[in-house]
Amino acid sequence: MSALPTKLETLAIDGGTPVREKLLPYGRQSLDDADVQAVVEVLKSDWLTTGPKVGEFEERFAAWVEAKYAVSFSSGTAALHAAAFAAGIGPGDEAITTPMTFCATANCVLYQGAKPVFADVSADTLNLDPGEVRKKLSSRTKAILAVDYAGHPADLDALLAFTRARGIPLIEDACHALGGEYRGKRVGGIADMTVFSFHPVKHLTTGEGGMVTTNDAALTETLRRFRNHGISSDARQRQSSGQWYYEMVLLGFNYRLTDIACALGLSQLMKLGANLARRREIAAHYAAAFRAVPGLIPPSVRAEANPAWHLYPIRVDLAKLTVDRGQIFRALRAENIGVNVHYIPVHLHPYYRGQFGHRDGECPVAEAGYERLISLPMFHGMTDADVGDVVRAVSKVISSYAK
Ligand SMILES: Cc1ncc(COP(=O)(O)O)c(C=O)c1O
Repeated sequence: MSALPTKLETLAIDGGTPVREKLLPYGRQSLDDADVQAVVEVLKSDWLTTGPKVGEFEERFAAWVEAKYAVSFSSGTAALHAAAFAAGIGPGDEAITTPMTFCATANCVLYQGAKPVFADVSADTLNLDPGEVRKKLSSRTKAILAVDYAGHPADLDALLAFTRARGIPLIEDACHALGGEYRGKRVGGIADMTVFSFHPVKHLTTGEGGMVTTNDAALTETLRRFRNHGISSDARQRQSSGQWYYEMVLLGFNYRLTDIACALGLSQLMKLGANLARRREIAAHYAAAFRAVPGLIPPSVRAEANPAWHLYPIRVDLAKLTVDRGQIFRALRAENIGVNVHYIPVHLHPYYRGQFGHRDGECPVAEAGYERLISLPMFHGMTDADVGDVVRAVSKVISSYAK
């Protein structure tokens, strides 16, 4: 991989030559011929939607994350909605969550007519700070909804201590963290319900798709009904038993994942171990390369965590730079490095400000993080040359703007 620049080069944003000719995205899927073949086989079969691939994918996925049950959904957002429903969150209730996430995490609480309450995050991981969560617990708290930001598992033991004491569920939004480990155990069977997304930038893709894993049989039954209009059996079960009768027992949705998508998921699952290993290799390379770059703070990893590295969010150290994050971002884009920002704190989106009167300064750690964050490209299909380009561009840009 390329070495760090030894002298200041003219930045592409100032008319210099970009580090890369073509833009490197921050994330993208990797599909191979076996994935394509798996989908083609389903397209030629009898079942396009809920058929044999759904159950097979759920079983293998549950085994992979070391949970008893897995229920598939049409997206991670649908899976979050189902988990909020199964948690019994309803009008008048509150669920404590993090502002440092994609808005879908908090939106699922709104879908249930309840109120998301934002607790600030810890400065190192940008995951929910248990001390801040404690301050937000109230008689209306019906669940805690944690996020494994960037793939680093949340402070699960501390959060479980709160939820167990109150008899409420911990929902873990692990949409970034498939394969992430907490105290040596994969996320998926630790919280009461764990939610995954199969969007193309994630570790495993089905196009759109999601999953909830749990060890609780009753929650599993509720989740299955919720994704199928609240009906007590699915069409395939009825066909195989020769029955026409069904009952709608709760108000659900059509959140089913297709057999086409599940065939792709099964094929992708076979490559998940290699994919995770590659992401960890890239993260280790970034960490080693950036240790010596003043003005840049790489993500920190706690002793109890082995992150899944969905994102690689660095923070720029504004005290050591002559420009703000926006300028660094634009300069990296000009070098053809497809950087991104995760996330605008959810409470600061216009909808949340308008509905709940949220203001700047409510979650100072998350807000300060947001001002400094830049997500570097991180996906398993990156070549060593791609990784080298990112290191070279980041070092070039940061050193140009160093005080
Ligand atoms: C933390 C988090 N939660 C939920 C979601 C929603 O997942 P999906 O896009 O599959 O609906 C995402 C998607 O990016 C996410 O990053």
